[in-house]
Amino acid sequence: MRSPAARAATVTCALALLATVSACSGAGVDGTPGADGVRDPYFPKQGNGGYDVAHYGLTLGYDPDSRHLTGTAEITARATKNLSSFNLDLKGLDVSAITVEGKAARFQRAGQELRVRPADDLDRGETFRATVRYSGTPETITDEDGSKEGWLRTADGAVALGEPNGSMSWFPGNHHPSDKASYDIQVTVPKGLKAVSNGELTRESTKNGRTTFAWHSAEPMAGYLATVAVGDYEMKTSTTKSGLPVITAVAPDEAKASKKVLAKIPDIVEWEEYNFGPYPFSSTGAIVLREDEAEYALETQTRPTYPGAPEAELVVHEMAHQWFGNSVTPKTWRDMWLNEGFATYAEWLYEEDHGGDSAQETFDALYKGDYFEDDEDNEAVWAFPPAKPTSAEHISDSPVYERGGMVVHKIRQTVGDDTFYDIVQGWTKTYRHKNADTEDFTKYVEEHAGSEGARKKVAAIWGDWLYGEGKPDKP
Ligand code: TRP
Ligand code: ZN
Repeated sequence: MRSPAARAATVTCALALLATVSACSGAGVDGTPGADGVRDPYFPKQGNGGYDVAHYGLTLGYDPDSRHLTGTAEITARATKNLSSFNLDLKGLDVSAITVEGKAARFQRAGQELRVRPADDLDRGETFRATVRYSGTPETITDEDGSKEGWLRTADGAVALGEPNGSMSWFPGNHHPSDKASYDIQVTVPKGLKAVSNGELTRESTKNGRTTFAWHSAEPMAGYLATVAVGDYEMKTSTTKSGLPVITAVAPDEAKASKKVLAKIPDIVEWEEYNFGPYPFSSTGAIVLREDEAEYALETQTRPTYPGAPEAELVVHEMAHQWFGNSVTPKTWRDMWLNEGFATYAEWLYEEDHGGDSAQETFDALYKGDYFEDDEDNEAVWAFPPAKPTSAEHISDSPVYERGGMVVHKIRQTVGDDTFYDIVQGWTKTYRHKNADTEDFTKYVEEHAGSEGARKKVAAIWGDWLYGEGKPDKP
């Protein structure tokens, strides 16, 4: 028994058979398994092939005392080929049942791969809904560089941080930045605690001693930017002059220390809009944890997460990621300098515009090797080219951040401020809510450099600064 879509596929396949045998190998339109990864150069198992997620509906319950999470993930996706099975990424946790299009599906687990075999094959182009029921104590993941992500315990709850691979520790999905989707994240916690996530709060209701918080993210989000913070937070909502909701959630211990800096969020958003173009999401804000509850800040979408009260520069950095990383998202983790180079450069620009060092001075200090206190840190800037990190262990190292920022500055130096800001704003506009890689970027810059002479000059930056080993001969 086949659906009309499958019948259509049979016809296409018969025709295709004349041209290429391999396109229709074996039993005609019968589906084949979707790939177990998207061949990311650094994390080959991350993500999965054969489908494209449109929406995640996560219904979660968390109890900090027992550290027990119960979850239902409703994944709406479109098959990009005929599928007999497809994979999701999920690390740890117990899966109790999976349905696809309402019918029980078989499944099998191996490491982080959760293979789902629907009762009926899925046809190419078909939109389907997979529902995964799961529970357990989510894991903290230790990255190749030793940093912790995934599900982190906090004093009175937990926080989820997902860069690069932590999101698979709390929900099943296509966990690679190349597949962005909209989200509804609903979290139920013991009454008295809060559950903060991305986007806007659409519902808060208490029943039988438990409170449910429902959060909606309409704009596409990569899984690594999804977050949940459960605990005692002071939640405040205000709006910027232009009407953008600002939602902050602050651990009470950090409330006093973060008051002033969080009050700057509207000005920072305005300054960034002036420089980078319209803010790409429907709300903004911050989640402030206690100092030692995470090792680093993360640009969680709409609502960056900070380990303790942040400095203004850090807010500038994480907010800049809303354009660079969250709206324009890397195609693979090799392109991470597009996130960190720009977010770092945003800090330099902010200082320049607010009475501090100019970006040129920052660039010069880095080139001369007296930017960091420590000589080793000054040397580390040149360890590898920003667009080619040596290995997964190094994707968050200084060549990606500081030398990435230097690449951006080289472009500005070469084309001048007017063209530079046109390029930056054109880039965020052209790739808004999409994915881009380093080649998309270099091509875009060259095409918009202004003249053939300018195109040649910017093109000359790439070899030395972006792809070249070691410190370039000239600043
Ligand atoms: N990407 C984060 C930022 O720049 C920081 C970050 C995430 C990080 N994971 C990390 C830094 C691992 C060092 C190690 O805001
Ligand atoms: Zn960053």
